[in-house]
Amino acid sequence: MTAAYPNLRLRRTRASAWSRALHRETVLTPSDLIWPLFVTEGSGVEEPIGSLPGVSRWSVDGIAARAREAQSLGIPCIALFPNTPSDRRSDDGGEALNPDNLMCRAIKAIKDACGSDIGVLTDVALDPYTSHGQDGLLDESGYVVNDDTVAVLVDQAINQANAGADVIAPSDMMDGRVRAIRMALEMNGHPNVQIMAYAAKYASAFYGPFRDAVGSGGLLKGDKKSYQMDPANAEEALREVALDLAEGADSVMVKPGLPYLDIVRRVKERFEVPVFAYQVSGEYAMIEAAAAAGAGDRDALVLETLMAFKRAGCAGVLTYHAAHAARLLGA
Ligand code: PBG
Repeated sequence: MTAAYPNLRLRRTRASAWSRALHRETVLTPSDLIWPLFVTEGSGVEEPIGSLPGVSRWSVDGIAARAREAQSLGIPCIALFPNTPSDRRSDDGGEALNPDNLMCRAIKAIKDACGSDIGVLTDVALDPYTSHGQDGLLDESGYVVNDDTVAVLVDQAINQANAGADVIAPSDMMDGRVRAIRMALEMNGHPNVQIMAYAAKYASAFYGPFRDAVGSGGLLKGDKKSYQMDPANAEEALREVALDLAEGADSVMVKPGLPYLDIVRRVKERFEVPVFAYQVSGEYAMIEAAAAAGAGDRDALVLETLMAFKRAGCAGVLTYHAAHAARLLGA
């Protein structure tokens, strides 16, 4: 007979705060967080993003200030996304290769402000630079072509690494891009630049506010289902992760976050590698809307969701709540 009530009372260890602290299985700290920031042209500019209440686009000087803030809060890494001016967007997204583009200037400003004390993660995909809002090059039918896109993504990644990026994060979901980028980094003097692959990235309805933030939402025709994954698939996510690891990814990402914690768990158990999750813009907006509607306590929702990522097996989480969460955690 196993012990049962009244000998076994699972409430016993929950009865006091000290005991709950002692028995806690998972810890969440500011060092688990990656803070995504949106960059815009100008100086002294802060543009609030309507669909992401509490999140703004910052000009490069403001980005440097946010990086210093992150540093003081113990957040180890910033992720950057540019809102490219519309006159610099084109069919081929050529602005992605400009060594003086918004992204490269923001990377340098962070490095000038914080030195090597903070990591800079840069997104590789063409959607903030194309006039059509797709992540790659289109053929006549509007299909995103794979191999020609990969060639451009490689140049985009090298452009970011040359500007000082520490982590290259391909979010485009083209086949074979991780290997191509890894080889190019090795050949161009960047052996220590990491690759965090958006390995299991789903064609999700949760990206809407992000597309507003980078200005691609209004441009996008159709969807991204010919390259991003079907939300119905989990085995395919494991194949994507296996491939990206074989091609040289240092860590992998699952995206979106909360609706895909089962994928996080399966990837962690199968591969035992660093797994990150992206709590995406629509998830952020849902929490903010719930809190604004009085349907939940904002701070508690933020911390509970972030803890859930850690419990599921994440090494860290990309979240727009990073600075707020770090403050709540008492940094
Ligand atoms: C670009 C990219 C997207 C996001 C991150 N990188 C949008 C998309 O794929 O359309 C979404 C992030 C978010 O919603 O917060 N490829």
